[in-house]
Amino acid sequence: MIYDINNLIIRNRKSRGADMPKKDKPGSAVTLAGKHIVLGVAGGIAAYKSAELVRALVKKGAVVRVMMTANACRFVGPMTFEALSGNPVCRDLWAGGEETAIPHIEWAGQADAVVIAPATANMIGKLANGIADDALSTFMMAVTSPVLVCPSMNTNMYQNRAVQRNLAILRKDGYEVLEPGTGELACGTSGAGRMPEPDIIVDRLCRLLTPKDMAGKKVLVTAGPTRESIDPVRFISNHSSGRMGYALARAAEYRGAEVTLISGPVNLEPPVNVAVVPVQTAAEMAGETLARVAASHIIVKVAAVGDYRAREVAAQKIKKGGRPELVLHLEENPDILKEIGRKKKKQILVGFAAETQALVKNARTKLAEKNADLIVANIVSGKDSAFGSDTNEVCLLFKDGREERLPRQDKERLAHVLLDRILELS
Ligand code: PMT
Repeated sequence: MIYDINNLIIRNRKSRGADMPKKDKPGSAVTLAGKHIVLGVAGGIAAYKSAELVRALVKKGAVVRVMMTANACRFVGPMTFEALSGNPVCRDLWAGGEETAIPHIEWAGQADAVVIAPATANMIGKLANGIADDALSTFMMAVTSPVLVCPSMNTNMYQNRAVQRNLAILRKDGYEVLEPGTGELACGTSGAGRMPEPDIIVDRLCRLLTPKDMAGKKVLVTAGPTRESIDPVRFISNHSSGRMGYALARAAEYRGAEVTLISGPVNLEPPVNVAVVPVQTAAEMAGETLARVAASHIIVKVAAVGDYRAREVAAQKIKKGGRPELVLHLEENPDILKEIGRKKKKQILVGFAAETQALVKNARTKLAEKNADLIVANIVSGKDSAFGSDTNEVCLLFKDGREERLPRQDKERLAHVLLDRILELS
């Protein structure tokens, strides 16, 4: 690799990972591994966050190339992006001399997606009006892949009529425009205009690259544990982290579904663009879930619902009081899945079965008893427990008697495979 350190334009362009294979199979989870992402950095203070964005993209296995405007270089040096991406940065189409290949055409042809972050008022105006007067804006004329535009600027600038008009043009032209965050801005004011955090941009990029085969579907997912109080300070619960359910909700949203997630108490970030309804108890989960069944096309019950609750919740903390043992009286909670199974009309109903023994036999009983279309059976004890782990190994039991074992895989990928199977049922 030969490049001019002053101009940082590559001459014999074979960048890091440029020949990596594409890894996604149709219908499977979209990953950024091996994807060619061009990051366009325009001249805004949020350019420092773009360095973090490069790191996040590289961590996901993407091949990242950065284009910077001259103003962007005043905020962050190109060397930072060069070091983080492992690839030369392009900031001037003429810097490489006459024998240089045409980077804006070559990079545009190879890009799986383009992110403009920060997108300044000036760059948004150029994109909306077809102005190509520097490396980045010229490159954008040649791009045919999906583009994510991340506006970032002072609130008054963002709300300016011309900027809003230009953003409307970009949306109409098929660009994906990410709403800026609201809060304290670098210019000392507060309001809309913050560049979203890098993990949000990466998340939206994954969505942008995912085929929308669930568009028009309303999906209801339950996730996490429930909590049943026994007194004001203690409760009965289980080890569900919510990861499996959140992965399903996120995957369905990536695929274009309108998703509602009824969630027990978990320690996870809510998936973007998903309506999250927080609940604590099984009774609350039952109420919120059953109220939405009629309006849903697909219902996936991943939540680990407590089967029992305390018959009486003590008004004050239960004291030890010298007792050698304490007996709690429990009563049964509503079986939400069973109730939906009774009520459902055309909905696809998917339940999970959390077992510690006789996995398939017990799960098959649940499939029949709860009138589900599919039961996803997993083990929740020992070293392979599905509780809290990043991966899961499941056996699918279909209503028509089919059985399919899926290999252990991370929950994000598994979520997409489950959605593939669910779509085959609809
Ligand atoms: O959250 P994670 O840490 O990622 O872990 C994922 C998981 C282990 C929680 C998940 O993969 C799983 O197995 N979820 C189902 C947990 C459970 O309650 O299983 P069950 O076999 O007890 O119940 C069978 C089905 O009936 C489930 O779909 C459950 O949501 C539903 N149910 C159970 C009891 C009840 N009162 N109402 C219900 O709707």
